[in-house]
Amino acid sequence: MKISIFGLGYVGCVGLGCLAELGHELIGVDIDVEKVNLINNGKATIVEKEIDGIIEKNRSSNLIRATTNCSEAVEKTDIAIICVGTPNDTNGHLDMSHIYSISKDIGQAIKNKNEFFTIAVRSTVIPGTNCKIAEIIELESGKKNIKDFCVVSNPEFLREGTAVKDFFNPPYTVLASESEKGIEKMQKVYENIDSEIIKVSIGVAELIKFVNNSYHGLKVAFANEIGRICKSLNIDSRVLMELFVKDSSLNISQAYFKPGFAYGGSCLPKDLKALNTISHDNYIKTPILSSIEISNQIHIEYAFELIKNKNKKNIGFYGLSFKDGTDDLRFSPALEVAERLLGKGYGVRIYDKNINISKLMGKNKNFLFEKLPHINEILQDDLDTFISSVEIIVVVNKGENISALNERVLGKKEVVDLVRVTEKFKNYEFYEGICW
Ligand SMILES: NC(=O)c1ccc[n+]([C@@H]2O[C@H](COP(=O)([O-])OP(=O)(O)OC[C@H]3O[C@@H](n4cnc5c(N)ncnc54)[C@H](O)[C@@H]3O)[C@@H](O)[C@H]2O)c1
Repeated sequence: MKISIFGLGYVGCVGLGCLAELGHELIGVDIDVEKVNLINNGKATIVEKEIDGIIEKNRSSNLIRATTNCSEAVEKTDIAIICVGTPNDTNGHLDMSHIYSISKDIGQAIKNKNEFFTIAVRSTVIPGTNCKIAEIIELESGKKNIKDFCVVSNPEFLREGTAVKDFFNPPYTVLASESEKGIEKMQKVYENIDSEIIKVSIGVAELIKFVNNSYHGLKVAFANEIGRICKSLNIDSRVLMELFVKDSSLNISQAYFKPGFAYGGSCLPKDLKALNTISHDNYIKTPILSSIEISNQIHIEYAFELIKNKNKKNIGFYGLSFKDGTDDLRFSPALEVAERLLGKGYGVRIYDKNINISKLMGKNKNFLFEKLPHINEILQDDLDTFISSVEIIVVVNKGENISALNERVLGKKEVVDLVRVTEKFKNYEFYEGICW
């Protein structure tokens, strides 16, 4: 395929060389004449393993060349891949000026082009950019998005230092567009790369890089906080973290990565608090560890406000314990929300098949009665009575008979969902999810 690459920095230079390796014909475009000259002389614009040989070889076989002339590149190709820089501005926002300026140039350049043109956005961009690029191009060219051209979001996941290897072995290839034709074109571009192509919404494609990189930063800073605590206790942090990452069922896994309600229970909050006091007692600053509980509390507050803002008086909690399959109510975040609603004069009813007051014992029972002294009056064991006595159902746990709830509630009652109870509710007017 004939492809132009806009921006010949780390991402653009690697893309230029590696797409040529896959047999495509490439024209690189940059405003920096020095970079353009380097490519035309068969030299890479960056220092990166393997890239020198790749650029030299593909320049010799005429699969790549570079120019400062945007119109020429657009005229001679069917696809443009945008790889220009998006650095932070002084306030921390992404500076999108290069993206908008290149969109204007491309818009001008496709004015006289008769063929359908695909613009893929490889740069990391703020949500809404795909749409904004389409608007700019429509304005500049007088052409119609989707009919005459399209914009495909296609985030890049390579890392400097291993960029060529990463280019050919991405975790996956993400594509998002309003145009199916554009997606198909981009699938062809990457057809010889052995990785799953995942089609997502434009919003997901635009946000994923920020989430990835924030999480990578979190991992480094978390490991270093643990390292500082370990050092103060004369414990080898490397040995400890090697053990930590070996647990691929709970630690390095999909577990706990589902947006939903706050954590709770008898172990997690207790041990987190204990670790924070250990670091405090040893004069170690660990802001990540100490902000976890704050973040969790903010989430509980958020759920409370969500329910309150529905302006209904009678609230039903479907589930009360901190997770499915247990009657442990200690530090259950739902219990905290129920307690606060009762304190504000709301009517609260609870249905939780796992809770049998006569079987509760010890600290668990004491905790429940301390928080909800009238639990006997508000806990209901018949689902239909429970549903008919409330105006909103707050789904806390999925439980075994969740489908019975779904059938009875869908279209009849307002629902606040803390667990993504079912996809069926998604288009239901009186439904709101906590994180979706
Ligand atoms: N560097 C990485 O490891 C990496 C990895 C994944 C994603 N990204 C993202 O990819 C994008 C590019 O990153 P980079 O590191 O390659 O940036 P870079 O600064 O190395 O390169 C950007 C290039 O774009 C050129 N440019 C700017 N305006 C232009 C215009 N109007 N026309 C043509 N060229 C223009 C610049 O001259 C420069 O050569 C960023 O959004 C970045 O966040 C970077």
